[in-house]
Amino acid sequence: MHKTILVTGGAGFIGSHVVRLFVNKYPEYKIVNLDALTYAGNLENLSDISSKPNYIFEKGDITDTDFVNKLFERYSFDSVIHLAAESHVDRSIVNPGAFISTNILGTVNLLNAARHFWNDDFKDKRFYHISTDEVYGSLGEEGFFTETTAYDPRSPYSASKASSDHLVRAYFHTYKLPVVISNCSNNYGPNQFPEKLIPLAINNIKNNKPVPIYGKGENVRDWLYVIDHADAIDLVFRKGKTGETYNIGGNNEWKNIDLIRKLCEIADRKLRRKKGASAELIIFVKDRAGHDLRYAIDSSKIQNELGWKPSVTFEEGLEKTIDWYLQNENWMAGILDGSYEKYYEEQYVKR
Ligand code: NAD
Ligand code: DAU
Repeated sequence: MHKTILVTGGAGFIGSHVVRLFVNKYPEYKIVNLDALTYAGNLENLSDISSKPNYIFEKGDITDTDFVNKLFERYSFDSVIHLAAESHVDRSIVNPGAFISTNILGTVNLLNAARHFWNDDFKDKRFYHISTDEVYGSLGEEGFFTETTAYDPRSPYSASKASSDHLVRAYFHTYKLPVVISNCSNNYGPNQFPEKLIPLAINNIKNNKPVPIYGKGENVRDWLYVIDHADAIDLVFRKGKTGETYNIGGNNEWKNIDLIRKLCEIADRKLRRKKGASAELIIFVKDRAGHDLRYAIDSSKIQNELGWKPSVTFEEGLEKTIDWYLQNENWMAGILDGSYEKYYEEQYVKR
């Protein structure tokens, strides 16, 4: 079957793994990657597949209505896999506007374009919206997020993602647009921008810089290796039921402080440091405003209905991730420009 698929945000962390998977696995599909190449987008993430005949890159902004419409006109997409977003909670606390614009208005532009160009003929069409577990808010010590947990977003980032989820569902109910949504827990792995906890910590450990832990490090996240998320996205894209939501998670909860200590242990071994040397870099800094205590996903629906399960254990995933960052110094050097240094200064040094 020949399909033309629009992937938005394909130059980012998760998007690049999704694009690679689809380009390699489905040579009969044409994959069009639309990305604005913000600070988080990096075409180097895709250098291994960028010359494949079924891959096309289009630089553009999903908030630009004319551009989005022209793209739909040019390519007659069969499906959309929508990952483009402003994705970092700390940045949303400083500058919510960019999150409202890209995550809400950008998503509406794509929904409108799909509806308009598919002209209410939705046979074999699919609009797949990639979302986050953060829309469900914060858990206490017990319990899990299921697909029916009430939305309770608490940061500008999660509120903007929740809003986009609501709009996607509204287009399903109102216009019958064939949508599917998945909400995933924290991803980690190669190509993640070093503003996020794991690559930030690896980079700082390697450079003997302080490793900042917010508050007391008691907050809990459920970590999933990014390739397992990409596999789940492939499955939901092909087999997910229209109008449904699927939660994706690692069943792998870690307190931030325990996770960073574990990372330090592995780093000591890989960097041939004496035991405990990397952990001495840990410092406790001012907490994130409104910091959600705990996220944990119940992924039994996607496991039971679509047969997905994570394939990489956390130990394997962390080893692979640290190896990747240690072996790809040029990748890191290439993205750490002046704007990141300015962000780091504002976020960690001045506060
Ligand atoms: P990322 O920040 O690494 O990448 C986002 C990509 O979107 C970048 O390539 C960026 O250039 C592009 N982009 C941003 N604004 C754009 C715009 N206006 N127009 C076009 N492109 C634009 O993000 P990520 O971590 O890969 O997350 C991808 C998606 O998955 C997001 O929707 C995010 O909410 C969701 N998600 C992420 C995680 C996680 O742990 N990282 C977990 C669950 C869900
Ligand atoms: O749960 C899914 C979400 O996971 C995604 O939707 C987001 O796009 C993604 O960024 C991620 O959000 P988090 O805020 O959980 O990820 P982050 O890596 O920023 O932080 C993970 C935890 O570590 C969180 O409790 C805050 C803490 N932290 C983070 C940083 C950057 C620190 O203690 N120190 C830090 O320097």
